[in-house]
Amino acid sequence: MCGIVAYVGEKDAYSLILKGLKRLEYRGYDSSGIALLEDGELNVYKKRGKVADLESQHAGKALKSTIGIGHTRWATHGEPNDVNAHPHYSNNRKLAIIHNGIIENYASIKQNLIKKGHVFQSETDTEVLIHFIEDIQHEAGNSLEDAVKLALREVVGAYAIVVMSVDHPGQLIAARKGSPLVIGIGENEFFFASDATPIIEYTKDVVYLDDYEVALVRDGKLTIQNLDNTETIPYIQTLEMELETIEKGGYDHFMIKEIFEQPRSIADSMRGRLNASEGHLQLGGLSGYMDDLVKAERIVIVGCGTSWHAGLVAEYLFEELARVNVEVEYASEFRYRNPVITEKDVVIAISQSGETADTLAAIELAKSKGATIFGICNVVGSSIARASHAGAYTHAGPEIGVASTKAFTAQVTVLTLMAIAVAKKKGTISDETYRHLLYEMENIPALVEKVFENATKIKEIAYIYKDSNNCLYLGRGFNYPVALEGALKLKEISYIHAEGYPAAEMKHGPIALIDEDMPVVFLATKDSSYEKIVSNIQEVKARKGRVIAIVTEGDTLIPSMVDFVIEVPEALEILTPLLSVIPLQLLSYYVAVMRGRNVDQPRNLAKSVTVE
Ligand code: F6R
Repeated sequence: MCGIVAYVGEKDAYSLILKGLKRLEYRGYDSSGIALLEDGELNVYKKRGKVADLESQHAGKALKSTIGIGHTRWATHGEPNDVNAHPHYSNNRKLAIIHNGIIENYASIKQNLIKKGHVFQSETDTEVLIHFIEDIQHEAGNSLEDAVKLALREVVGAYAIVVMSVDHPGQLIAARKGSPLVIGIGENEFFFASDATPIIEYTKDVVYLDDYEVALVRDGKLTIQNLDNTETIPYIQTLEMELETIEKGGYDHFMIKEIFEQPRSIADSMRGRLNASEGHLQLGGLSGYMDDLVKAERIVIVGCGTSWHAGLVAEYLFEELARVNVEVEYASEFRYRNPVITEKDVVIAISQSGETADTLAAIELAKSKGATIFGICNVVGSSIARASHAGAYTHAGPEIGVASTKAFTAQVTVLTLMAIAVAKKKGTISDETYRHLLYEMENIPALVEKVFENATKIKEIAYIYKDSNNCLYLGRGFNYPVALEGALKLKEISYIHAEGYPAAEMKHGPIALIDEDMPVVFLATKDSSYEKIVSNIQEVKARKGRVIAIVTEGDTLIPSMVDFVIEVPEALEILTPLLSVIPLQLLSYYVAVMRGRNVDQPRNLAKSVTVE
């Protein structure tokens, strides 16, 4: 969703911010803008469309400044157009603001300000906030930083903001509540951004702002205070991210780069945690809380989209290995359902970004009812990671493509390790099974590598099906969540309507859709449901459906029944999702490319869904 980049220092702010905004494009947006202090004037440049549109509008002009704020906007209040794009001026045009999040009580504040003579240019909640700050600043002669704090005490909602003022050259004020903001500290320079990607090439020293904190950079110094004016010492962390992880590195798209990165990202998720020959398995972030998991009467897993699918895989894993009751919930439903949660429950929140608003709200709710919260996040220092009691990072590296690929397999990897560790501690698996599982896990990256040998074949299949209007994905057991994930991948990047179902549910409705124009992707690996899946395939073939089957290497039965097969190596049933999802990611990618879609930034989608 919206992205923030701001800079104060000695470099050329315009080009630096523009580059930063391009780094944030993956988050999804529909307009962009930059404000600069140029020769004592506060100038705002903004444009609907891509950052390149903003850039071309000002091509050839010398925009010179060493301080500025920039934004990519994903529309919430008011349509995506030039006027609603950020930055926004205050009433006297002496202040400018960029803002991620939503100010929920903006309408009443706006009404009061209109009565006082404020004139608004846009339909946004953000413009109301900067007018409000100006109003408070002038009402009682408050300093700008006090006015920002006083305004933020009044607003309801979520925000990450950066404010600049024509009267204070060299000064930036930033604040956050519920929307991430990271501050990069360089030599005589400071960077502000909604995530670390625009900062990484300049400095690795960063401070993650906490909720209700206000950061002030003035005279080359950073100070941080709470809204109640208590000062906090900035906690400087070192970014572990490398620049090449946020660049395409010769690939056409981030998505295909990230798909092919999976042998490494899965290995990274296990690194330092698993050593099969020594029988070692430990997730450092969980130590101290392992007993809660072992004693849990129930595990409730919350997440959205692909992360929810990883949660479904975890349900099968924890029930199978650790014999514990698991429920998997859409965070968005859970948070508004008055769910029955007690201190005996353990909640696992899964989120790549660690910023998904619904998932964050779900864990706050569960926390308020006394549950222990485990966060499984990819982004280090993210809000969900920080709001959790304990957790494990997935260490997949930055995922830039909007469609989640390597984050999913990393989530499943970490959840598998968790389930094995809990099962071992509970004694629900034998030592022999435990050892065997560790060896099999260690071998997964090599098996994923083998799936890639089928990439050309998958491309050929994609060519045949690229013009389809619909597609059905069916699987059973551990492969049922994979069917859902395959369907989601196809629809989100190719815009082909796709549905995932448990294969046995087909008879209860979806079978009516089957005809010679309906491609059906079956997850049909050799597992405990194999015979049943074979019957389901026959039912589809009997109705002339066109079947693509993901099968285990060496299978001879299913290839004789279906139109196309894609083989994956043999693996333990509980580990199958880590392999069977790969061909589905590739299939979606190739279909989307052949249909000319914007694979990395599909329409209407955002990488990090920070609003409800
Ligand atoms: C699909 C996808 C989304 C996300 C969902 C949750 O490819 O990326 O469905 O999985 O928006 O996001 P996180 O995991 O960041 O909470």
